[in-house]
Amino acid sequence: MTATLIDGKAFAQKVRSDVARDVKSLRDNHGVHPGLAVVIVGEDAASQVYVRNKVRQTAEVGMQSFHFEMDASTDQKTLISKVKELNADPRVNGILVQLPLPDHIDEAAVIETINPAKDVDGFHVVNSGKLATGGGGMVPCTPLGCLMMLQDNLGDMSGLRAVVVGRSNIVGKPMAQLLLDANCTVTIAHSRTKDLPAEVAAADIVVAAVGRPEMVKGEWIKPGATVVDVGINRIPAPEKGEGKTRLVGDVEFAAAAERARAITPVPGGVGPMTIACLLKNTVTATLSQNNIDPASL
Ligand code: GUN
Repeated sequence: MTATLIDGKAFAQKVRSDVARDVKSLRDNHGVHPGLAVVIVGEDAASQVYVRNKVRQTAEVGMQSFHFEMDASTDQKTLISKVKELNADPRVNGILVQLPLPDHIDEAAVIETINPAKDVDGFHVVNSGKLATGGGGMVPCTPLGCLMMLQDNLGDMSGLRAVVVGRSNIVGKPMAQLLLDANCTVTIAHSRTKDLPAEVAAADIVVAAVGRPEMVKGEWIKPGATVVDVGINRIPAPEKGEGKTRLVGDVEFAAAAERARAITPVPGGVGPMTIACLLKNTVTATLSQNNIDPASL
């Protein structure tokens, strides 16, 4: 392997300790105790793991943590009422409704109910609109974490070619916007892209967020490129024993690491940064809701 590993676990630890310091200062110097509410509907196993981690880490940085588990049969009206209740609750500075929601619920309708000032996921159209037109809103956590790691690793990214593989509202589209704001020349590739290997091979920065195990091949990576792998895919690992599994990203890691200058591992890359950025966004939301200057912390 020639690439440097980008250690998301250590980076996330640093972000969380900065957040914990800000939370303490908010409480001690401003009498404000930030609170984050997390709502989960149904029993999706992966979502439950994510939500448990979010709730635990919220408490660990000293914030108030509100956790609501709703039955899979919850109707849209009831969920929207819950969101409205949280919008009106002064103890709640951030609201996160875990996705995906059950099929009978219209995700967009729920997201649009969240007060944009409390939308710490940055999914509300007001926040995606702000991101597209000059900033100042909440930025989705996973792309924000990727950007922070890229900036830390590369410094100025002006003029670099970036390819984002994947066009989801949660990662691909906001990621492309953030890279554009960082003065990269950005391509968004997706399942209909005609020559994906050529798009990847032209890029100085590759962000893979397609949710398909090892779809981006190592041999496509331009020598010296920086690779951020957002994918977390569980695949069978018969070499570890019958019924065993392992986690892989959307990039063929070992082969990519032979060509890249730096790469995020899976696990321990982007994953830990997502929750750290959620906590960071909750502090940002608390500051702006209370008209507190970040410099005063
Ligand atoms: N499901 C997968 N990732 C996310 C996320 O960042 N936020 C929410 N609300 N749901 C998710």
